[in-house]
Amino acid sequence: MTDKATLTIGDKNYDLPILKGSTGPDVLDVRKLYGDSDHFTFDPGFTSTASCESKITYIDGDAGILLHRGYPIDQLAEKSSFLEVCHLLLNGELPTAEEFTKFERNITYHTMLHAQFDSFFQGFRRDAHPMAVMTGAVGALSAFYADSLNVDDPKQREISAHRLIAKMPTIAARAFQYSQGRPFVTPRNELSYSENFLRMCFSVPAEDWVPNPVLTRAMDRIFILHADHEQNASTSTVRLAGSSGAHPFACIAAGIACLWGPSHGGANQEALEMLEEIGSVENIPAFVQGVKDKKYKLMGFGHRVYKNFDPRAKVMQKTCYEVLEQLGINDPLLHVAMELEKVALNDQYFIDRKLYPNIDFYSGITLRAMGFPTNMFTVLFALARTVGWISQWKEMFEDPSRKIGRPRQLYTGATQRDYVPVEKRG
Ligand code: CMC
Repeated sequence: MTDKATLTIGDKNYDLPILKGSTGPDVLDVRKLYGDSDHFTFDPGFTSTASCESKITYIDGDAGILLHRGYPIDQLAEKSSFLEVCHLLLNGELPTAEEFTKFERNITYHTMLHAQFDSFFQGFRRDAHPMAVMTGAVGALSAFYADSLNVDDPKQREISAHRLIAKMPTIAARAFQYSQGRPFVTPRNELSYSENFLRMCFSVPAEDWVPNPVLTRAMDRIFILHADHEQNASTSTVRLAGSSGAHPFACIAAGIACLWGPSHGGANQEALEMLEEIGSVENIPAFVQGVKDKKYKLMGFGHRVYKNFDPRAKVMQKTCYEVLEQLGINDPLLHVAMELEKVALNDQYFIDRKLYPNIDFYSGITLRAMGFPTNMFTVLFALARTVGWISQWKEMFEDPSRKIGRPRQLYTGATQRDYVPVEKRG
């Protein structure tokens, strides 16, 4: 096997080293290409470009494989807990019992927000989209934690990571309670991460809140399924923002803003709204025809990397059935989703383009059954993805070859010309 490729431009040859990962495609190292040849590479959308080296998450999109630190996502979703997965993503290994106790305590004891922070929410309209509230609130959090700003200090990076994982459920629950006009609920240290979050979302002062183990487990599993997904748009945003040395909480706010878009995290809300719009099984053929005529997209289908079943979608489908059964809900949208999936998987348009259900296809039905309104779906995604973002951010700082992210461009605008005074223009 050769360890270099040769690029010929005109009559000159340039050697490009070939870098090998532990698995997955080899990578052509073009770092010196501009200096040597005066040429950039062109790859808008990064479809063929590795933006960094990482040891956290591996995806084989053709085989439908997703590994966190080597562990398959279905095993983690089945056997692990979200906090254990957080430890794994952040630190590289599953924790020992002792490490887990310490980690859990660290997270649990950072869940409260500064009392003054609560008044920040009052500035938003009650009908504001909770993702707008999240973007603003997490950005504002950077104003409350100025004591751990040295991003070059590993200890301070760790404190920021723990604070973020701990405080996101409290902020997300406040965004939800605020939109519902209900009082904020203080976190409880004796509850698990997911139980505490559900309590902060759904408990009201007028009655005792009773946990439901099936729903707690479903919430935890949904968090695990969304925890990280290698260099997706929001993660790349966090890395890029962080590459300048910006405050970690501000970087996460940038990630939340990116996640909000309908092609990324906003797709779970759109997928459920699409199922509602279809309404019943008889309307599926006409809807699918509209997709094929390119009037709109089938939300919850397709993925930049998976050209096979999204492995998270399989676990999500199972979780969806469990939740509906536990709550005794017979949701007609589930029938629409199942039929739509069947129709799409057998249609040549979707087969030719390798379009399969992604995680968002079944998550909306599950979250709706659990009591979340559609505009909260992306907030839950952001809560869970925070550990992925901060793990990738932390990894970037551990890489000695870190540089500020600064892409180049193919410039096609006007070349240099002289300024024309206004009376001479026209
Ligand atoms: N419905 C209909 N056609 C589609 C869809 C879809 N959901 N996705 C892709 N296509 C078509 C697209 O029109 C194109 O067709 P053609 O070759 O005739 O022009 C072809 O498939 C290739 O599409 P692409 O736009 O090059 O694919 P991409 O890799 O740039 O886009 C995607 C990936 C996720 C943005 C896209 O599949 C999409 O918009 N899906 C719907 C939104 C969605 O469910 N997003 C959630 C992704 S999973 C959660 C997350 O990780 O954020």
